[in-house]
Amino acid sequence: MYFLGIDLGTSAVKIILMNEAGEVVDGVSKEYPIYYPQPGWSEQTPEDWWNATKDGIRELIVKTGVKNEDIKAIGLSGQMHGLVVLDENNQVLMPAILWNDQRTQEECDYITRTLGKERLTKYTGNKALTGFTAPKILWVKKHRPEVYKKIKHILLPKDYIRFKLTGEYATDVSDASGTLLFDVKNRRWSKDMLDALDIPYDWMPKSYESTEITGYITKEAADLTGLKEGTIVVGGGGDQASGAVGTGTVKSGIVSVALGTSGVVFASQDKYVVDEENRLHSFCHANGKWHVMGVMLSAAACLKWWVDEINNFGKESVTYDDLLGEAERVKAGSGGLIFLPYLMGERTPHSDPYARGCFIGLNMTHNRGHMTRAILEGVAFGLRDSLEIIKGLNIPVNEVRVSGGGAKSKLWRQILADVFGVRVDMVNATEGPAFGAAIMAAVGYGVFKDVEEACERIIRVTESVYPVGEDIEQQYNEKYKLYKDLYYLLKDTFKKISESD
Ligand code: XUL
Repeated sequence: MYFLGIDLGTSAVKIILMNEAGEVVDGVSKEYPIYYPQPGWSEQTPEDWWNATKDGIRELIVKTGVKNEDIKAIGLSGQMHGLVVLDENNQVLMPAILWNDQRTQEECDYITRTLGKERLTKYTGNKALTGFTAPKILWVKKHRPEVYKKIKHILLPKDYIRFKLTGEYATDVSDASGTLLFDVKNRRWSKDMLDALDIPYDWMPKSYESTEITGYITKEAADLTGLKEGTIVVGGGGDQASGAVGTGTVKSGIVSVALGTSGVVFASQDKYVVDEENRLHSFCHANGKWHVMGVMLSAAACLKWWVDEINNFGKESVTYDDLLGEAERVKAGSGGLIFLPYLMGERTPHSDPYARGCFIGLNMTHNRGHMTRAILEGVAFGLRDSLEIIKGLNIPVNEVRVSGGGAKSKLWRQILADVFGVRVDMVNATEGPAFGAAIMAAVGYGVFKDVEEACERIIRVTESVYPVGEDIEQQYNEKYKLYKDLYYLLKDTFKKISESD
């Protein structure tokens, strides 16, 4: 018996095949482009997602030689908050506006003004943020009225894939939580919110719990992918909830850190909890409970930018390993150099689409190794911002489990342990969200009683990194203070710079 986990990420779709013992048998990954048509805008083409996914599934089935009738269920995970709009013929009306797109500050201000912070929190558990889906819908209404007129269905990115696989318009509660149209406390669409923004209820997909069956593979999808017609597709989750399942972050005390394109600090909660100041998101978790999380918009994306755009600039002259090796030879603290990781603005804790990235404190003694190390440290400080808020809410942080592309670097894991002052663990599966989605599929099929039981049976800590000692911790504490001050010193300047773009 096998289960498929599909994670529709921002840079690629990752598809894994898991057996009933919870072992990952094999996987494929297929990339697609991301477009930045204007500063702060970020878009993808849903058709690219589908082409990559259908080809990837076929390739994985051929590569593993698995019989399609042995794949019993499929779980979907994906980048959250993105807006996909379909017309009455299910045609995609415009490129998807992604989670890290920052064009909607005016719409966020409008939502906050119209509803007021208290009603917003009461209806959705969250505040209006540029990345969320609702302000994107209002942006389309104002700036693309010809598109808005034709909308019949609104979907989140992974749910477009679900639609292509099953023909159903459906989502799951964890991903729906990131739309700002969902009543997170009661786990259903918020009629109040939809009415307040004049968004028709029937545009929204039906919402399910993450392990519920949402549909079955159609004949057409079976022909295109090699899957068996009628295979079940469960709700799955947003990539953060799925990633948390994939690292076993399903009970309080464990905090997960996802070091992907974005950087996320995620704490599982047995009860619905809201941060009064709305600095953290309060969302439904994939285990029938809830979670809070802080999200920085550019985490491993900063390192990717540094390697691809700045150091290689179209040619492959240096590798990640070269640059990380140079960074390792530099002492903790990067010789005083500080990097602010706001390359796409920032969400937690600043909610500021105008924030910019910068190196501060450069001098003649610095070399490329200092700059690379400063990037790793700057991202760790950005994550610490969320961790501090979590601790401030008296949520226990006994252990941090790290996943995502960035977690492959031992140096980065060590920096995280030193900056956070806690042990940082890796677990047996590194493909967090796709693995989590496969686990949800197995639970939905009935192999495990629930998500907690599945995690307990499947997930093991494989490697731990401990903080090296008080001196370094102290040094990082001092540097973190400087890092925090810098944003406030530069805030107004960032706004002026973005006005002059
Ligand atoms: C979560 C978020 C990102 C995206 C892309 O709120 O915006 O993590 O899900 O990974």
